[in-house]
Amino acid sequence: MGDKTIKGFSKLSKRGKIKWIVENFFKDPDAVTKELTSYWHGNEAQQKVLDGFSENTISNFPMPYGVAPNVVINGKTFCVPMVIEESSVVAAASSAAKYWMCRGGFKAEVLSTTKVGQVHFIWKGETAKINSFFAAVKNNLLQDVSELTERMEARGGGIKDFELLDFTEQLEGYYQIKIYFETCDSMGANFINSVLESMAANWSLRIKNNNDFAEEEREVEIVMSILSNYTPECIVRASVSCPIDKLDKNNSVEDNMCLAKRFESAVKIAHIDPYRAATHNKGIFNGIDAVVLATGNDFRAIEACGHAYAAKSGQYRSLSYCEVRDDEFHFWIDMPLSVGTVGGLTTIHPIAKRSLDMLGNPSATELMQIIATIGLAQNFAALKSLVTTGIQKGHMKMHLLNILNHLQASEQEAELTVAHFEEKAVSFSGVRTFLDTIRDAQAPRVAVSK
Ligand code: MEV
Repeated sequence: MGDKTIKGFSKLSKRGKIKWIVENFFKDPDAVTKELTSYWHGNEAQQKVLDGFSENTISNFPMPYGVAPNVVINGKTFCVPMVIEESSVVAAASSAAKYWMCRGGFKAEVLSTTKVGQVHFIWKGETAKINSFFAAVKNNLLQDVSELTERMEARGGGIKDFELLDFTEQLEGYYQIKIYFETCDSMGANFINSVLESMAANWSLRIKNNNDFAEEEREVEIVMSILSNYTPECIVRASVSCPIDKLDKNNSVEDNMCLAKRFESAVKIAHIDPYRAATHNKGIFNGIDAVVLATGNDFRAIEACGHAYAAKSGQYRSLSYCEVRDDEFHFWIDMPLSVGTVGGLTTIHPIAKRSLDMLGNPSATELMQIIATIGLAQNFAALKSLVTTGIQKGHMKMHLLNILNHLQASEQEAELTVAHFEEKAVSFSGVRTFLDTIRDAQAPRVAVSK
């Protein structure tokens, strides 16, 4: 195989990086070089912006950028941008949006917007002493970081509160300063982390300079200062409800009740069984991640938080809830969503900026409502299919279109194939055989002279 390590890779030009990669990892260097460079942005300045987001970039990785129109939230209609590579997701969100548009739309409300940061430190001494020292210098600690917080305060945010937590029973000497922030329209990671690092340094200095402590008590070890991606107090609720007899106008009253009950059971099962809960929540994140990505937010942070929240009871459970009561169908989701509409990629990624424009340049709380709604819409569409026709019917339809694309079917060939597979199981080889048959039948016959 030879040595494929390299020194100074990051110093190479983009073409230099590609050259080294194609020569070392590909059998067809010219073709791969051509392919990779074909995805470079035509506009050099735009490419520079994209390259600036990361390191060692060699090209761009295209993903489909779609929209779910007709998403009615609190009486306002949105066309929601979604970036996702999985077929059926945008179609499902769109169909759920249309479905609920005729039933009063989605409701959404932000329940809280608090973000959290932590200074983790080790201090060996009497807990009562550090507690009273913390109480004595709490205001000074705030004062110490006032230069960093004043702009956020002018926008209505800043530090809401902070406390000293004692974890010494779990780890010798381990304490934490836990800080609660309001970061307004920004996700706030940079702001929070800057405040934390500054507060940690000041805290450490104040302990070192405290003459009331014995020599050894003036030692403090700051282990780390970082925001927490778990934000159980940054919560948005999205919901839908309708009379049960309005669930499906083609159903009898009994069938609609049966549908509502089965749907309710499906959600309850995801509260009981973590195996099902993971899949159920994955469906929710199909929608959530797609909007989070399209708006330039951090989908890893959103996922990490969502899954931690799903396990808040000690067991991993569904993020959505369903109740059938008083002849009404109620379906809702409570989602922790720490997102921003200013700062980060939101305004510098050219398409993320367009996504926010498309949404009417929402505030962070409005964006929370939109994202949670798409998560709920996705979950609704998935469960409705699962408890009625099954998921494969819709999926296979999309799969069939992908296969037809791959096999470069003409419009007419695609139409014939879709009709042929209406009631049949779709497989790649089945579609190829069918296409071969119709192509053979259509091929001009060459007369063979004797
Ligand atoms: C597939 O990406 C998502 C689903 O599996 C979600 C679910 O089962 O609820 C369909």
